[in-house]
Formats: sequence, structure tokens, C-alpha cells
Amino acid sequence: MKTTAAITAVAGYVPDYVLSNSELEKLVPTTSEWIETRTGIKERRILKGEGLGTSDMCVKAIELLLQKRGISALDIDMIIVGTVTPDFVFPSTSNVICDKVGAKNAWGFDLSAACSGFVFGLVTGSQFIETGKYKKVIVVGADKMSAILDYTDRSTCIIFGDGAGAVLLEPSTDGTGVIDSILGVDGSGRKYLHQKAGGSVKPPSHETVDAKEHFVFQDGQPVFKRAVVGMADVSAEIMKNNNLKSEDVNWLVPHQANKRIIDVTAERMGVPPEKVMLNIQRYGNTTAGTIPLCLWDYESQLKKGDNLIISTFGAGFTWGAVYVKWGYDSK
Ligand code: UT7
Repeated sequence: MKTTAAITAVAGYVPDYVLSNSELEKLVPTTSEWIETRTGIKERRILKGEGLGTSDMCVKAIELLLQKRGISALDIDMIIVGTVTPDFVFPSTSNVICDKVGAKNAWGFDLSAACSGFVFGLVTGSQFIETGKYKKVIVVGADKMSAILDYTDRSTCIIFGDGAGAVLLEPSTDGTGVIDSILGVDGSGRKYLHQKAGGSVKPPSHETVDAKEHFVFQDGQPVFKRAVVGMADVSAEIMKNNNLKSEDVNWLVPHQANKRIIDVTAERMGVPPEKVMLNIQRYGNTTAGTIPLCLWDYESQLKKGDNLIISTFGAGFTWGAVYVKWGYDSK
């Protein structure tokens, strides 16, 4: 049988500090009711502490992952990190993580696809397993969104949170693993959700700092409209391509940007709410972190052979869906 990349372990980390909707009411003109009804979010986690960055959350998730799988960091061949909040512009967060966890035999890189970072990383990592080149690839999705949020801008600061999730990919010949994927980008959508300065087009300056151009800028409505259609379309398409009917899907694992987008996607797929992974109420939108954090939260309910449709839409625009047959029964 063909070698596929199976997910053989999952782990996550969210910081201790809970930023509630009521605390945000004190920072910006908003209400807990508005936030919850418009997004589904009740609270999100924030990484506090001098000198702590995205890599520190990834390290916690990866250490738990290795412990759960009962392997050493030295066994890891590769670490791919989906993030838009890297520790540094360079070197890559992956390099930093390899050093911090002691993955001396691994190499890796950061992958910039915003909310779709984990999904793009999952598909990329699975290729290295399928070719037989590597035996153990870690894919992490992680963002410290609080590092690039303006806590006086009510249109963005209420949405995002910090967190990291990681999966281990290993070769499988029993039919489980990453079965199929559809990925896409449309760079013309970049104007609706981006960070204006800090890159090579507009390097950091006093002016860019004063103009608050190092924070997330989002024009929410156009992103919402594209996300609703984009995530539902790509999810329906991957079901069709794999002859999956609604009742064949055990779990929808959607990017957690807005509960209303998730509801529309599930409805289009014909998947009932009890089969939809949801943790936006507790973590908000952790960008590349949402999907592996969902897998981590729901791991105990997953059974070997379950059909999962992972689905995402994010800044870029970027989008994708992955059909995964779950690789193990949780102990
Ligand atoms: O994960 C990456 C991809 N991102 C997404 O998928 C996010 C997609 N967008 C969204 O989820 C939604 O557009 C938001 C949650 C960001 C905003 O919700 P919305 O229903 O699209 O609100 P809106 O921007 O159309 O604003 C409606 C009203 C406006 O007031 P007026 O002009 O009608 O008087 C806003 O000023 O709500 C106001 N508003 C707020 N009110 C209270 C905007 N933000 C807030 C707020 N609290 N935090």
C-alpha cells in the first residue's frame, strides 16, 4: 500500500493569562455581548513576560508532543513552523526551536501563510514523509498575535489570541494519514488584512511606529465575505473529490476566525454541530494555531480511521482543505 503521512501525536500550549471580553470592555468601546454574538469569542490567552516569543510556546507544545509519543528530540528530522509572528525576521523560528528543544538532527523553516500556515505546513511536511525521505516531521502552527495588536483598535484586538499547536507526522501504510488536499492563494486580497510596515517595502522607522503601521490592519467585512464563501467552497470541493457524503465526515476541523464562518461551512457540508471542532470561545483566533489546538482539544474523542476535513481561510488571501484519516485511538 502507498506510504502516507499519518498524524501520530498532537499537543498544544496556550499561555496562562486569560484576557476576557469584560477586560476588553475597559480598553476599547465594545461590549461582551457584541464580541460574543458577532464572533463567538468569550476569552483569549495572552503570552506575558519579557523576552518570550512564539518559539517559547512552540517549545512547550513540542516537548509535550515528544513526551506523549515517547521519543527524543534527536529522533526528529524536520520542524516546519506556520507563523506570521516569528521570533525574528531572521533567523527562522524553526531554527530557534531546533536549538531550544535539542533537535540536533533536524532542519526546518518558517512558512508564512497567516491563518492557513498550519494547513500549508501539514501538506508540505507530508510530502517529505510520502517520498520516504524522512520518518518524523513536526508541523507547528503558532502565533503570538498580541505582539502585533493595537489594544486601542476594537476591530482587531477583540479577535485574536496567542497559542501553539503541533503534530507529528510519520509514515503509514494502513490507509490512515493525509489523503488529499486543495490549497490556494489570491494575493490581490492582501490589502484587506496585513501589516503595513516592517517588511522590505516599508522598513521600520519612527514614522511607521507613530502611524501604528506595525499592527494588524483588517478591513473585516470583505475578509468575512470571502472567508464565508472560500472556506465553505473548498470544504465542499474536497468532499466531492473524495466521494465523501456528509455522513462520511466524522469531524470538521475549521480555522477558528469567526463562529459565523464556521457555521456556514458546516451547513454547506451537511455536518451537524456536534461533529464540528470548536474552541474559538476560549482561545479566540490564534491564526496558525487554531487547527492544531482544535486537534489537541478533541484528541480524546478521535478514533483511528475517522474522516477529518481540515479547512482554512486567511490573510493573503490563503485557503485550503485537507482530508485526513486519523491515525490512532487516543489512550
Ligand atoms: O482569520 C483570518 C481571517 N479573518 C477573518 O476571517 C475575520 C473576518 N471578519 C470578521 O470576522 C468580522 O468582519 C469582524 C468580527 C471583524 C467584524 O464583524 P462585522 O459583523 O463584520 O462588523 P463590521 O465591521 O461590519 O462593523 C459593524 C458595526 C460597525 O458600526 P456601524 O458602522 O454599523 O455603526 C462597527 O464600527 O460594529 C462596529 N464594531 C464594533 N462594535 C462594538 C466593530 N467592532 C466592534 C466592537 N465592538 N469590537
